[in-house]
Amino acid sequence: MQDIINQLEEKRQAARLGGGQKRIDAQHAKGRLTARERIDLLLDKDSFQEWDMFVEHRCTDFSMADSKIPGDGVVTGFGTIHGRLVFTFSQDFTVYGGSLSETHAEKIGKVMDQAMKVGAPVIGINDSGGARIQEGVASLGGYGDIFQRNVMASGVIPQISLIMGPCAGGAVYSPAITDFIFMVRDSSYMFVTGPDVARTVTHEDISAEQLGGSVAHTEQSGVADGAFQNDIEACLMLRRFFDFLPANNRSKVPVRTTNDDRYREEPSLDTLVPDDPNQPYDVKELIVKIVDDEDFFELKPDHAKNIVIGFGRMEGATIGIVANQPLVLAGCLDILSSIKAARFVRFCDAFGIPVVTLVDVPGFMPGSAQEHGGIIKHGAKVLYAYAEATIPKVTVITRKAYGGAYDVMSSKHLRGDVNFAWPSAEIAVMGSKGAVEIIFRSEMNDQEKIAARIDEYQAKFANPFIAASRGFVDNVILPRRTRLRICESLEMLRNKKLENPWRKHGNIPL
Ligand code: HXC
Repeated sequence: MQDIINQLEEKRQAARLGGGQKRIDAQHAKGRLTARERIDLLLDKDSFQEWDMFVEHRCTDFSMADSKIPGDGVVTGFGTIHGRLVFTFSQDFTVYGGSLSETHAEKIGKVMDQAMKVGAPVIGINDSGGARIQEGVASLGGYGDIFQRNVMASGVIPQISLIMGPCAGGAVYSPAITDFIFMVRDSSYMFVTGPDVARTVTHEDISAEQLGGSVAHTEQSGVADGAFQNDIEACLMLRRFFDFLPANNRSKVPVRTTNDDRYREEPSLDTLVPDDPNQPYDVKELIVKIVDDEDFFELKPDHAKNIVIGFGRMEGATIGIVANQPLVLAGCLDILSSIKAARFVRFCDAFGIPVVTLVDVPGFMPGSAQEHGGIIKHGAKVLYAYAEATIPKVTVITRKAYGGAYDVMSSKHLRGDVNFAWPSAEIAVMGSKGAVEIIFRSEMNDQEKIAARIDEYQAKFANPFIAASRGFVDNVILPRRTRLRICESLEMLRNKKLENPWRKHGNIPL
């Protein structure tokens, strides 16, 4: 018995040491933590229960039979974050570069299966050179098995990926299917094929950072939802982020106690929208002033900045926020902002998170770049996402709601539950100048007449009352009371029941 216990301890030690002290030191020298250190930071103290610590690979090629490390390059198990259950896997770069073997994949699959059975989120900490090259097709099969699970879990349990090192090849496709991806600045990379392959195939001389670093993915591609300064900040921010998420698609959104009163008025909001309709303002000021305790977790803050998305709380309960940002491109919708908003709305809908939409949109972005890039299809994604969503939807039009973009942004016509307008709202087919230039083209030579026509159009449509008279907005509200009106609406909607007709699945314009 004592022998076995000694053996057990030896194996545990070996597993904890992963690829050895030298490689652990190398990991630290790069400013990165080890797989276990990351889990310790992410989860509540002493809550982690490890599984499969003694699993070893089965490969015999390339002398692999003589080189087995218990755990096989990934630490898996479950624990809690602020007391709420979460499953996790953390790839160990010190063991064959965190590469994915058949058994490594089985370990990840096991925690994913269990998370599905009990309805708890999965957080994957990715630090991997991709498929374990020595294993060949067996590791490709392992990836396939994980992808299949990612897809089955999509919309059932939240899946979050932390990218904390180089992630190449198959190591990026599993995160791509998950709901959220966070990276670490100057320390994590994601690419399907790395700089060397790019150099050979496209003759492009590009660094790993330029090709797939956090800037590339948080600003340009939009693949990542955010980036943090270092491993420590990433794990701690993930704990904050996790608090917004429900456990699964059947559980209610988490509610946290707050002293922030629903009756809190914000007089400064009465003057947020400038008198000049061409003057921008920062919609994030509005967001932080209406949510509980100014606590807003923005996603993709550096990508498609003309739309703002993220999580906040109203009276303790999580809400999703989608807001046009007049500060960037006048808040108009383009390809990237449409994709950004649509995917977020679909996440919220899948997990029963009410969406509050703040509208100030002059329309879709014109021009060949947008048209040839497929704005028709991509813009339709937002429309589709809002139209199919059955969650509570509360909309506030602060200023412009022009053209197709008016319809798209959670309008009454797309089953918006409660649609408010501020007194500064303008709901029209387009801006007055553009409208007059089209319908009074024959009068264009007469500047005086045109100015009068613009004034006439402005007077008729630059207000919320025409839309309100048709019931397209439910009420015109004082900006300072926006928080109260949203809280009341969400309370009224708490037991909302709405089902879409049976179908295998819709066909969103991808
Ligand atoms: C086995 C690997 C490995 C891999 C790295 N290692 N990647 N072992 N399989 N895929 C090992 C190295 O041999 C080395 O072992 C240790 O991990 C650290 O690697 P280094 O290269 O020294 O580290 P670094 O310089 O930081 O570079 C990291 C890296 C690079 C960028 C990830 O290792 C790399 O380019 N690896 C290969 C990436 C790749 O092409 N993967 C296959 C993709 S194909 P020692 O013993 O020296 O410590 C794929 C197909 C799936 O994934 C498709 C599914 C759709």
